[in-house]
Amino acid sequence: MDHDPFLLKLTSFIKPLPSVADRVLYLARQDPVDFKELTKVIETDPILSTMIVSLANSPMYNASGRAVDSLDRAIVFLGQGRIMDSVMAYMTRSIREDSTEEWPLGDLNFWKHCISVAIAARMLAEKMHIPAADKCFIAGLIHDVGKLALLNYDPSAYRTVIEEVVQTKRPIEFIELGAFGVTHANLAGQISRHWKLSSHFMKAISFHHDGPDPITGTLANVVRSANLLAKIAGYCESGNPYNMITTDLLVPHPRVNQEDIQDILTRLPKMVTDLSTLILGQKVDPIPVDNETKICVSVGIGNGEERVLLRYILSALGCETNFGQLKEDEDAIQVMIMDYLPSVAPEGKHIIDFQSWREQQRDIPSNILNIKSLRHWISGKLEDVKAIAV
Ligand SMILES: [Fe+2]
Ligand SMILES: [Fe+2]
Repeated sequence: MDHDPFLLKLTSFIKPLPSVADRVLYLARQDPVDFKELTKVIETDPILSTMIVSLANSPMYNASGRAVDSLDRAIVFLGQGRIMDSVMAYMTRSIREDSTEEWPLGDLNFWKHCISVAIAARMLAEKMHIPAADKCFIAGLIHDVGKLALLNYDPSAYRTVIEEVVQTKRPIEFIELGAFGVTHANLAGQISRHWKLSSHFMKAISFHHDGPDPITGTLANVVRSANLLAKIAGYCESGNPYNMITTDLLVPHPRVNQEDIQDILTRLPKMVTDLSTLILGQKVDPIPVDNETKICVSVGIGNGEERVLLRYILSALGCETNFGQLKEDEDAIQVMIMDYLPSVAPEGKHIIDFQSWREQQRDIPSNILNIKSLRHWISGKLEDVKAIAV
């Protein structure tokens, strides 16, 4: 941990890793792993033991659904890297319990965002075939924990930060810097050091709001892209609905294509619900997606980044979009989202005027986009179309 007294004070609400977690992380890092010793240490903590058995039976880790019913089997089944996931999931629950301040936009919403970033990061890493999928999950899980440290350090000042995000439409990290002289991202990086995680974590977490790392497939880029995907999927109540638009929405990677991203967006809600319920110990409802009504949407707007973002949001809302060739489906409602309104609407197609949303965003700097607003607007417009079409 940095010895700067101000940083120490800011992070004081985050406890060091409990000795059992510390020992488990140490043992899990050894090569070869002594699974007997690992089991002996883990079984001294009933909450961690339960978490490990539950994770070994969760759909995210156990696609076959074959029951893993004892702790020693669960430890071997999960293996080295995923034991670290379990320890961080365990820490997440204790951070939540230790926080005396309620997240201004809903405590559950905050954690659903973190868990969705963790899952999206793991899925992205798997699609990229990078070996650090476990690291991506952990980095995603704790990437925003600095927000809770700031909130617990000075609740009234941090609530003002969140209000300012809404009123001034500036990204949260700039407002935090003005109010505290540090961003939640930098602080979360410090916390990862406090927990003795490697410098890769610290770098990835500290820079998750910065521009893309020029090297594709790094932990930093995976967390940055996962944060954006989580917001697109609707997990955007983390106090920061904006995303910086640089050259690419998602850091391009030769092994990740648009179908992969759509696949992540489609599977994310159920996984978030399952894992949130497991980690947080309370029932968590999924974000509702209408799979009953078939809607085909073609997106005809000029700005490339906005076009891609819209298509991903539409995918997350359960629509078929024109990433590839739109299938002609007579049963589906046909929608076109356009930059301008054609003088004569094509027969059988519903037109949504994208400029009406753009108009509402006039006072927002052109290099950022409000993902929450765009998602909300488009789902409202689709509801209107459905009401007319049915
Ligand atoms: Fe963040
Ligand atoms: Fe985030």
